[in-house]
Amino acid sequence: MTLKGGLWLVYPVDGTVWSRYTLNRWRFCSYQLEFLMVELTLPRNSQVKPGKTWAAPSGSAQVRAFKVYRWNPDDGQNPKLDTYEVDLASCGPMVLDALIKIKNEIDPSLTFRRSCREGVCGSCAMNVNGSNTLACTKAIDEIKGPVAIYPLPHMEVVKDLVPDMTHFYAQYASIEPWLHTTTPTPEKEWRQVPEDRQKLDGLYECILCACCSTACPSYWWSQDRYLGPAVLLQAYRWLIDSRDEATGERLDNLEDPFRLYRCHTIMNCASVCPKGLNPAQAIGEIKQMMVKRSV
Ligand code: SF4
Ligand code: SF4
Ligand code: FES
Repeated sequence: MTLKGGLWLVYPVDGTVWSRYTLNRWRFCSYQLEFLMVELTLPRNSQVKPGKTWAAPSGSAQVRAFKVYRWNPDDGQNPKLDTYEVDLASCGPMVLDALIKIKNEIDPSLTFRRSCREGVCGSCAMNVNGSNTLACTKAIDEIKGPVAIYPLPHMEVVKDLVPDMTHFYAQYASIEPWLHTTTPTPEKEWRQVPEDRQKLDGLYECILCACCSTACPSYWWSQDRYLGPAVLLQAYRWLIDSRDEATGERLDNLEDPFRLYRCHTIMNCASVCPKGLNPAQAIGEIKQMMVKRSV
């Protein structure tokens, strides 16, 4: 990460530029600012170059340009931004529909993840016009002009739009996301009264898409040690579960200047979550549990 004067920064994976507009808030500025990238001495192989333009077939009725980040680890080239002109008259309404049309009809080498196509699996998370979202639930109509598509920010890229989630999943595993009990297992099931069950609302819906964590500046700076909003929301989901009997051990596991306390309530996480969840609030609840057990 390269900083200049503390007022703006360039994200070296794709050359996107961000400006600071309050003490802790950063605003997406631009997809490419070549002169800034040179001035900030970014590594040459990190600069996103202009790519190929795939023109729409003649007679297309409703053309929209999709500018898509491309990077192939096997060709030794810089990342590039390919432009695909898509006829929306013969395309589904969502950004994912356009990507599937591009892959099926224009360029089969384009690589991205998707599975459910209905906002449930979380695998199509990517950055669309500067905001992390699910491509399958993001309507093309909501975007004016060309549609810019990048992988989730601040992750290693496997290829094109596919981020490497290995570290994210390892962090998730570190909170041991399953029921811990010491009392004998009941014959049928672990029971829970409706009031306790309701405490899981707003938490269990998380699909682990990582939109929130990869929008969190604290996670960008410290993801080697800070767990980030998605994993902390999941940690709270188990802390608050009335059936779990390892609350103390779970809090011990989080009691660390980095794993929990790098959240500075910047709230990017809540604003991008495609499921409408509020990881920042869950993090606040964990901090309160920490305080309560220490008094
Ligand atoms: S909290 Fe929301 S944005 Fe974060 S991983 Fe879960 S579903 Fe995705
Ligand atoms: S509120 Fe905390 S977790 Fe959410 S974006 Fe801000 S620093 Fe990250
Ligand atoms: S394809 Fe499953 S959430 Fe988008």
